[in-house]
Amino acid sequence: MSKLSKAFKAFGLILKKPHLLNLINDSEEAMQEYVEKKYGLPEGLKTVSIEQFISREEEIEPYGFLEGSSLPTDFALLRSICRQNQVEDYLEIGTWRGESAANVAPLVKNCYTLNLPDDEMRRMGMEEAYIGMHRCFSKQVENIIHLQADSQTFDFTSLNKKFDLIFLDGDHHTESVMNDTRNAFRLLKDDNSMIVWHDTGEGTETTRFSVLAGILDGCPPEHIPHLYRVSNSLCAIFTKKELKAEIVKPNSVPELSFKVKITVCK
Ligand SMILES: C[S@@+](CC[C@H](N)C(=O)[O-])C[C@H]1O[C@@H](n2cnc3c(N)ncnc32)[C@H](O)[C@@H]1O
Repeated sequence: MSKLSKAFKAFGLILKKPHLLNLINDSEEAMQEYVEKKYGLPEGLKTVSIEQFISREEEIEPYGFLEGSSLPTDFALLRSICRQNQVEDYLEIGTWRGESAANVAPLVKNCYTLNLPDDEMRRMGMEEAYIGMHRCFSKQVENIIHLQADSQTFDFTSLNKKFDLIFLDGDHHTESVMNDTRNAFRLLKDDNSMIVWHDTGEGTETTRFSVLAGILDGCPPEHIPHLYRVSNSLCAIFTKKELKAEIVKPNSVPELSFKVKITVCK
């Protein structure tokens, strides 16, 4: 099909279904342009080496190696932050199987995890098997407090609590990330408190600009210089710690490698 006939076809489709325009406006390309124009970050955030956060050895448990599981390094990052910063109060948005919550729980005092209520997911047409999988790793863990609510409408002040570490891994649409980010900054305990965002790249060397746009839009402007992408992970982080950071281009020769030991548990 020629470019002109493609353009006519697209125009016709948009006239019939105007919501298709969202596909263009929300595309990664459009979001990259937005981030470049508004924040001057065409290549995304500077990257800090994960080595600056993780303990030399960090054991991950439980780990499902299942569809959509976070990376072992993502959980290592959360665990090491908890261990090294004596995190007492942890909050996450996005429980799903409860894998991240169950990894963090042994290292903190209170582990709050919030997810859409089961009935809300049912109303949204999600499969019963998917809904039933929620909290499978976390429901038996004593210090995990499960909250069932929509993070976009939940009144976080009702918790009457501030947090040392907040992990944002719920709805990854730009506007939802922005709202979750705004709320998270209001809930930080002190200057040592941190926020970690998940899925800020499709992989460990790329940036998901639709997520980054939400982070930047929700971040108080004075804190933007303290946002980083974390190497070898899917995470970005807010921390006031002094860190060495640089723009890392995809396909750079790796500076780190890891030793992974696999133990089958039932
Ligand atoms: C990627 S999963 C979380 C994975 C989990 N943090 C882990 O690493 O084990 C995202 C979860 O966020 C939940 N979610 C999506 N939108 C939400 C919202 N608006 N409020 C609360 N939870 C939401 C989904 O139901 C899903 O279970």
